[in-house]
Amino acid sequence: MPRMLVQGITCLTLLTLGAAIKCYKCHNSNSDACGEIFKSYQFSTYDCATENIKCGKQTQPPITHNGRENWVGVIRTCYPMGSLPGINETDGCHYWTNPSDNFTAEYCFCSTDGCNLASRLYNNGNAIVLTVALCAIMHCMQTML
Ligand SMILES: *[C@@H]1O[C@H](CO)[C@@H](O)[C@H](O)[C@H]1NC(C)=O
Ligand SMILES: *[C@@H]1O[C@H](CO)[C@@H](O)[C@H](O)[C@H]1NC(C)=O
Repeated sequence: MPRMLVQGITCLTLLTLGAAIKCYKCHNSNSDACGEIFKSYQFSTYDCATENIKCGKQTQPPITHNGRENWVGVIRTCYPMGSLPGINETDGCHYWTNPSDNFTAEYCFCSTDGCNLASRLYNNGNAIVLTVALCAIMHCMQTML
């Protein structure tokens, strides 16, 4: 195969590796370590099942839970796009109210492996930009040789 084609395939593979996103999955009603102060070393990431998935974090308003006042429920999981009707699914944090019971929580989405560890998640396109840049550099070097 011509060198450029091999290079192109390598770059494409690198880019598509991002499709099977890995996310943390935990709930702080089972484990305090999953709460706002996230002890990520106690957890591992899981491959999310299908495509069109982001990593998500749901943060509920404070309630009384198991006798603890102002307890904040936190769930981290794979989030299949389209699961919450009408929510803004761009990377970042958005409030959403379930129309059937008026339950309101903050939902944060992000798109890189293991990114749902932060207390707030930020838009992160850097990994992809970096991959593209690396491919471009590798391609240039090969052309010069
Ligand atoms: C969704 O959220 C993003 C970032 O917070 C914002 O820029 C965008 O306008 C929002 N889209 C809609 C339809 O509200
Ligand atoms: C949700 O809240 C709205 C506005 O406060 C109210 O009109 C509606 O009846 C509520 N729905 C439910 C299911 O509680």
